[in-house]
Amino acid sequence: MDDFSFDGFQISGRQSNGVGRSQKLALSDSDRASLVVLCTASEWPDHALRAETVDEHAAAAQRILDRCPDAAANLHRLVSPILDPSANLVHLPSLFPPVAVATPVGSHLADDMLIIAQLRLLTIALVAGGHMPTAYPHENDGRIARNVRPDPCDAGERSSHGGKVDFEWHSDNPSDRAPGHGGGALELPAWLVFHGQRNFEKAVTEVVHLADIVTAFERKWPGEIGRLMRPDFLFSPPESIRLHHGAMEPVLLPVLWFDDKAQLQVRWDTGCMKGIDQEAEWWLFRFRESICAAAAEHGKSFVIGPGDFFAFDNRRILHGRRRFKAFPPPTARWLLRVYGKPIDQPLV
Ligand SMILES: [Fe+2]
Repeated sequence: MDDFSFDGFQISGRQSNGVGRSQKLALSDSDRASLVVLCTASEWPDHALRAETVDEHAAAAQRILDRCPDAAANLHRLVSPILDPSANLVHLPSLFPPVAVATPVGSHLADDMLIIAQLRLLTIALVAGGHMPTAYPHENDGRIARNVRPDPCDAGERSSHGGKVDFEWHSDNPSDRAPGHGGGALELPAWLVFHGQRNFEKAVTEVVHLADIVTAFERKWPGEIGRLMRPDFLFSPPESIRLHHGAMEPVLLPVLWFDDKAQLQVRWDTGCMKGIDQEAEWWLFRFRESICAAAAEHGKSFVIGPGDFFAFDNRRILHGRRRFKAFPPPTARWLLRVYGKPIDQPLV
């Protein structure tokens, strides 16, 4: 697999040959400094961490951008490629200054001013890129952001809070609802957006694009991709949602479907899905082989470092994380994670 690690900024998107394009861009020190200062402005809602305040939170981010037009234009230039369907992933190393706060032990964001400022920076970048943070009242305890950090209790689990085992290819919350294609009570996250805080362990995040998976599948099983578009697969919510909802019935869904822009979409997580019968199971296995083939040929790996902005399309890109030896909590790997979705209308 290619391993991308640049000193400058990188924008990576899939092109027809599967190779990501990259370019070096930068946010000036003065832009960065002014955004950090404005993030402490009193106009932010002081209860901005809850799902029900997402709109207020995003509107506050937009006001900051309006007051800081040069930084806003530069941020937009950096982040807006996430609106380009051919570029479904953006990695901007060191976009933000990291924070000198110990890695938390809990998964929910603490009401610590320094950490909240980091979340505001992430929101500003998202909004500058035409996306809204999204949060769900019944997921992640209704919080906008989640701490992704190794939890010693989950060390052996197949989870973002594990570390000792590989977290295989998946999309987040695959049992969630997609317009016109059923699913659970929540909307399938459109984008996963991370703000790296620290990663001394150099834990590796891997991604593979759906288009490459379909190419690999068609090469071996021409004309059979429709097998994955039947609602023949039982999906259960991941553990993080089951904890809040209690036991939930699995939902019958397709693995692949077209959205309203005729773009193929995917949901996948072998930890919480299975075929309805032997034939469906057989095609799941074949698709899994294609994921591995595509990953070997075109997959990319990233080390999300301190201050990095890292975002990708959860319905077009599968991701995974290789096992790593976690440091103790004060210095353990730590990312802030927010779900995002494209904004249809200007915020203010
Ligand atoms: Fe994930």
